Amino acid sequence: MYELTNLTKTYETKRGTVSALNNVSLSIPTGQMVAIQGPTGGGKSTLLQMLGALERPTSGTVALSENLLSGMPDARLADIRARTIGFVFQGFNLIPTLTAQENVETALAPLGLSRTERRRRATEALDTVGLSERLAHHPAELSGGQQQRVAIARALVKEPSVLLADEPTGNLDEQTRDEIMDLLEGLWRDQGLTLIIVTHDSAVAKRAERRLHLKHGAVSEKKEHGTARRNTAQR
Ligand SMILES: Nc1ncnc2c1ncn2[C@@H]1O[C@H](COP(=O)(O)OP(=O)(O)OP(=O)(O)O)[C@@H](O)[C@H]1O
Ligand SMILES: [Mg+2]
Repeated sequence: MYELTNLTKTYETKRGTVSALNNVSLSIPTGQMVAIQGPTGGGKSTLLQMLGALERPTSGTVALSENLLSGMPDARLADIRARTIGFVFQGFNLIPTLTAQENVETALAPLGLSRTERRRRATEALDTVGLSERLAHHPAELSGGQQQRVAIARALVKEPSVLLADEPTGNLDEQTRDEIMDLLEGLWRDQGLTLIIVTHDSAVAKRAERRLHLKHGAVSEKKEHGTARRNTAQR
């Protein structure tokens, strides 16, 4: 599904050049559940932004299925993001002036659906994450775990084939963390998602099929296998 080849990302700052990713080559098959760990500043969010076509590499290539993202015009990238890739950001990035329902609907804006269809799908996505009682609440009226669920519903409402989640359980208590992970793992199992999670939490990473470690912009594989299992009949 993803094929990364000699991927490099550097940022030019006033204090000089910062290297965030350094010659990363990596394949991620369709339907895999991957955890990415590593020290702060190691390049995890940068890598996720490359996978989500939110940023372009400095050199090297990113291919998603048959699409070479790194060479694509902005308009086509926006279209692929809108249809194929769900993103849960580090921090929730909800719009404070919109209700939960409206926040989720924003993800459908580029898809040209009717207002009724947008409402129906947003309601359904919020129901899936267990928030049907909170549709009309604004983010400030929701707990951290509930806001995180809204962010997940917003990423999933377009029925993406890839879900990229940057610290989806950061700042949550252990029980809420486990509930969010049960939810993500269930969606991964039932909907055939490719699920890529950045986390500092080993309890979260342990659940993934595959664990990657990112340090100083270089990626390595961890040996341990996770606990997540897909129903083999569905594979
Ligand atoms: N927009 C930017 N401009 C300049 N430097 C950046 C930018 N974004 C990231 N960096 C630098 O790139 C490196 C990797 O950052 P990145 O955000 O990918 O780390 P991370 O692994 O996600 O860290 P954390 O665990 O703290 O979220 C860091 O040294 C960071 O300072
Ligand atoms: Mg980060």
